[in-house]
Order: sequence, then C-alpha cells, then structure tokens
Amino acid sequence: MPKQPKQLNLSPATRAAQALHMIDERTGAISPMIDLSSTYARDENYDPRQSYIYGRDGGQTVKHAEAVLANLEGGKASLLFASGMAALVTLLETLESGDHVVAPQIMYHAGMTWIHRLCEKRGIESTFFDQTDPAALSNSVRSGKTKIIWIETPTNPNWDIIDISEAANIAHATGAILAVDCTTSPPSTTQALALGADIVFHSATKYLNGHSDITGGVLSTHNDNALWKELKDVRTMHGSVMAGFEAWLLIRGLRTLYLRYERASANALTLAKHFEGHKLIDAVLYPGLPAHPGHEIAKRQMTGGFGGMMSILIKGGAAQARDVSRFTQVFVPATSLGGVESLIEHRKAVEGPHSIVADNLIRLSIGIEDVNDLVADLEQALERAE
Ligand SMILES: Cc1ncc(COP(=O)(O)O)c(C=O)c1O
Repeated sequence: MPKQPKQLNLSPATRAAQALHMIDERTGAISPMIDLSSTYARDENYDPRQSYIYGRDGGQTVKHAEAVLANLEGGKASLLFASGMAALVTLLETLESGDHVVAPQIMYHAGMTWIHRLCEKRGIESTFFDQTDPAALSNSVRSGKTKIIWIETPTNPNWDIIDISEAANIAHATGAILAVDCTTSPPSTTQALALGADIVFHSATKYLNGHSDITGGVLSTHNDNALWKELKDVRTMHGSVMAGFEAWLLIRGLRTLYLRYERASANALTLAKHFEGHKLIDAVLYPGLPAHPGHEIAKRQMTGGFGGMMSILIKGGAAQARDVSRFTQVFVPATSLGGVESLIEHRKAVEGPHSIVADNLIRLSIGIEDVNDLVADLEQALERAE
C-alpha cells in the first residue's frame, strides 16, 4: 500500500506565491487562464454549468483572485471591486437613515468626503474621532445606533496606529461592526480578521497589486452573513465588480506580495533611521521608529514589517516641501502608494485647501529599489530645496 501523502501546513507566503496552487485542469498551465467573458452558456438542463451566469457577478478569474485574498486574510470570503472607493461606497451603502457611523479624523480623504456626502443626503449621523487619543473611539460610539466603525491603520498620511483588537471590542460591545482599512498593512503583516475585525478593506490598487497598473478594491470577512449577502447584491446592482484582466494582474501581483512588502519595509526603516534628526527635517512619521507613539501596538499587529509608507515634515514650510517633491530624480512625483517604484507627494497640494494635513508634510511610498539610491535622491532634493 502506498503511503498516504502527508498534509503540509503551508505558510501564507507559499500559498500566495503559488496563487493557491490552482493549476489549470485542462492544460496544466501554472499561470491562470484569463476569463474575460461577460456571459456564460448554460447546460442542456438550462442550469449554469458552474456558478457563473453573467459578468456583473464576477467571472472565474475574479473568483480565483477572491479565493487567494480570502485565504491570505484567514477569512471565509472576499469580494473584489473596480476600485477601493467602489468597495468603500458599497459598504456605506448598507447604512440607513438614522444610523450612526464612526471614522477617524484623519483617514483617506476621498473616503471621508464620501461619508460626509452620504450622511448629508441620507440623514445618517457621523462622528470623526481623534485616533491618537485612546479614549476617543469609545467616547464616539452610541449604543444600538452606531452601525459601522471604520478605522484605518496605519492612518494615511500621518501613519498613526489604531489598536484593532481594542476597536473590535468597542464595536462589538456597542452592536456595531468593525471595518478596517488595511491598505497600507496587507495580510502579509496584519491579520485584521484574527484581531477581531468584521470586515477588512483594501485598496487593491496599492500593495496587493503592487505594480501601479490596476485600480481595485476588496472586502473580506469571516462571516458570510446577511450583511455580506447585501454587499454582494449591491455590487451586482452597481456593476462595480473588478474586471477579469485586472483580476489576473492582481493575482500576479499577489504572488510577490510577501517579498515586495518585506523589501519595502526594510528600505523604509533604513530611510526613516537615516532621516530621523536630519538638519533639514522637523520630523519623520514612521511606525517602525521606536519614537513613534504607535510603535508598540504596531509591533504587535504588523508582524511582517512596518511597511513602506512614511511622511516627513520638511523644515521651512509649504514652499520647501513642494520643492523637495519637484526635485527628486528617483522618487516619482505622483499620488498613490504601495507600488514597486517609490513615489513622493506634497500631500496638502493633493488634498486641497480644506485639508488639515500639515503644510510641510511630504508623503513617501517607498518601493523596492536599492535603498542607497533612495537616500541619495532625497538628500540631493533636500539640499536643493533648502
Ligand atoms: C488608505 C486608502 N484607502 C482607500 C483608498 C481608495 O482606493 P482607490 O484609489 O483604489 O479607489 C486609498 C487610495 O489612495 C487609500 O490610500
């Protein structure tokens, strides 16, 4: 009798690299086929051949990408959207008039704009809490009325850290769900569902894809409940599902997520240490630095690295900060984050005059280049802008 194969307990990095080892049954192809079909032929009984009916529900490649994501998040299911904002809007769409939503005072600015707009139009109430004050979240919730607590950690662009487990306890004690925007701390470093989140959100445009060539968003859960079914239905009605080719690019990006995030984290830590205390810089905001107020929590909930996102406050003001962003030669002056290439932006200029972000703040998305080139580039830009 041949021995039974031993069941291996594979690490998430292995599962990601092999996109769950989903080898094509017909051809043996190890790069997944791309399903671009907008509709699906039924069988002789007029039943769907598999679970596919129409493109607005998502086809095979979308389902493959969702399976990889749910697996890496340690969840039961994931839903992919055409952008991060499409996913966020879909979740907020489940709120009803009279409900209350809580979110951080500093979060992804378009998300905040949408919350304000939805609340105004629908009669939904909102509270924006100071994420640097540990008591602020519990003071913001309203028992029985708060339906969604939305947090973002690390928080863009100050990189404040919010304790996910603590936020989950507060949410559950009040009868709300906790949704966590983990765009800058992907599953290779933060297992938000295991920490108590009900829904994990990512702009898949960023680290999950990692190559700045798609927009996408994803929601993941361990609870396949009525809310989840509603999210799925709203996505089908809106037609906001990710397209097949984007899903294929996302799968390709996910295969190197662990490598990319590890390298970006290492590069960022080197840069943060190098520029901390620099004569032309007022402060370096990076959760990997022991001086960062959220460092101890970040150590607990970002076990695979502190990521590639940091901000620096330039000595002087808005003019110097803008100049530094104009003068780099390796860092690309563009918005977005989480790609293999390093980006720089003067955040206030991007968010507009209503932004409460500091005038002298430069946001850096550190990529996977040679870190010595990144250090040299920032040094020369700082000197030129002085
Ligand atoms: C933290 C965060 N959340 C959400 C979004 C929105 O995602 P998308 O641009 O994919 O719609 C972004 C985009 O920059 C982001 O940085």
